[in-house]
Amino acid sequence: MNLIFLGPPGAGKGTQAKLLTEKYNIPQISTGDILRGAVREATPMGVKAKGFMESGALVPDEVVIGIVEERLAKPDCVKGFILDGFPRTVAQADALQRMLNGLDRAIEHVISVEVDNAELLERMAGRRTCRACGRGYHVTFDQPKVKDRCECGGELYQRDDDREETIRKRLTVYEAQTAPLKQYYAGESLLRPISGIGSIDEIQRRIVAIIEGRQG
Ligand code: AP5
Ligand code: MG
Repeated sequence: MNLIFLGPPGAGKGTQAKLLTEKYNIPQISTGDILRGAVREATPMGVKAKGFMESGALVPDEVVIGIVEERLAKPDCVKGFILDGFPRTVAQADALQRMLNGLDRAIEHVISVEVDNAELLERMAGRRTCRACGRGYHVTFDQPKVKDRCECGGELYQRDDDREETIRKRLTVYEAQTAPLKQYYAGESLLRPISGIGSIDEIQRRIVAIIEGRQG
């Protein structure tokens, strides 16, 4: 089960990917989470990525392609994987194609989560993220059981790029650089658009219906 989650910032890719990793026992590969970890630890890659991320721009292709190549080679990806936030440019999609050909693997579904900009702004402005495991919560829509604490025990914080000005920049970058991937994957008959509006459970059911072949 090799999946890509495509969609604008704040669409719910991470939220849904985390639920599916539990359901199907396959890893979520979030380039955003991996990069935030590298920034936190101030590794050479993190130092390079920090400025791009804070401004809402994309990190250079070669950096994220290297991350994914390394990650896909790990043994836990053998049963499948969920790519969350990768690919984000046509160059990344081409690189992924080459990697998967080399591994004799193929993507089965590109799930494109569609949400309008007003809702995206509200979701990101109220998001709180776990420092330890990267899980996202929302101050209104998905509250933690214990205030400011993730269920894993980690501390919840507001992401640096979840400020209104940066959110707007990320939405513009998405339209310019990532939205063209919908055409790209439609051309390969892999695109499965779903509405990302509704409860977290409803959206999960839409995704599971695609994976289990009950739709599309
Ligand atoms: P990344 O971390 O990937 O961020 P993103 O794509 O901007 O997406 P988000 O994580 O913001 O949103 P999401 O769709 O995961 O939504 P979530 O589930 O949290 O990337 C960050 C940065 O890293 C980039 O800007 C770039 O600089 C760099 N980067 C990463 N990958 C890269 C790449 N491939 N190439 C180049 N650069 C890269 O949900 C959002 C909120 O909504 C949460 O609060 C959640 O609780 C809530 N919510 C979720 N579902 C619902 C629902 N159904 N109803 C109500 N609320 C909901
Ligand atoms: Mg995310």
